[in-house]
Amino acid sequence: MKIFSGSASRDLTKKVADHLRLPVATIEHHVFPDGEQRVMLKESVVNEDTVVLQSTGMPTDRHYMELFFMIDALRRSGAKSTTVVVPYLGYQRQDHVFREGEARSLEVVIRFMEQAGGTRFIGLDFHSVKIPEVFLKPVIPLSALSLFAEKIKQEQLLDNDTVLVSPDMGGIRRLDILSDLLGGVPTVSVEKNRDLITGDINAGAIHGMIKKKAIILDDMISSGKTIVQAAKVLQHQGVVEMFVFATHAIFSEDASTILQGSPVQKVYVTDTIHVPEIKQFAKLQVISVAEMIAEALREV
Ligand code: R5P
Repeated sequence: MKIFSGSASRDLTKKVADHLRLPVATIEHHVFPDGEQRVMLKESVVNEDTVVLQSTGMPTDRHYMELFFMIDALRRSGAKSTTVVVPYLGYQRQDHVFREGEARSLEVVIRFMEQAGGTRFIGLDFHSVKIPEVFLKPVIPLSALSLFAEKIKQEQLLDNDTVLVSPDMGGIRRLDILSDLLGGVPTVSVEKNRDLITGDINAGAIHGMIKKKAIILDDMISSGKTIVQAAKVLQHQGVVEMFVFATHAIFSEDASTILQGSPVQKVYVTDTIHVPEIKQFAKLQVISVAEMIAEALREV
């Protein structure tokens, strides 16, 4: 097996490759002054099972184009198979047409990856359970929830005064899974209202009985507003300790600053998206999904 990294995921790929006791295969990636990209494999892949690992966080389009080209290069160069690991799948919040006239953007990027030559796909904590159905090729959906459960136990964050909180109604299924993994912790959800034009977020009614300590769970943090708004509502209702767990650290706009300044004690994310030094903050802790991806690759 030969494993290649896209430019968005070098650290994670190295960790995955180390778990598999493989070197990271060499590929050249060049960005021209006009923004066009070129990739070139620097080793033979003829009849090889290959893996390409690239997260498609910001800048999403650029990372996708690079990934399409890498998959195409592998197919043209004679690879036997190409497993595409996309730890964070960009455009997954556009998995269906919400309003007439919109594109189904996720389907477009998935078709590109499939057409380019992807044999199978691995992703983590998809935004919706229906996302694997958008693929025509096999998908292995992984989840960081078991790692979160381990961390919560390790750091002894649970006591009789703890609830699990979803900062929006769409996250209830995810919350129930984490609750089960932890042996049945009570759950609460906060209503989120998002203005579809401006993107502004307001947290509204709380469903369920809150307690003094809250573990807030989400699949991704982009601007950070969903978490911060929910945390403020919870604080207003008497919650005194809050810990956040989210798989994908997109960290757009000033997410790092507002999370650091929020009432939450700590923010746990994974390395599905590389968090550059400039976006790191004191309350942040990153949990690696490398071993989980390596395990999945061992079985393909
Ligand atoms: C939305 O449905 C997602 O689960 C996240 O809650 C959302 O994408 C987070 O976005 P932001 O951090 O910009 O509020």
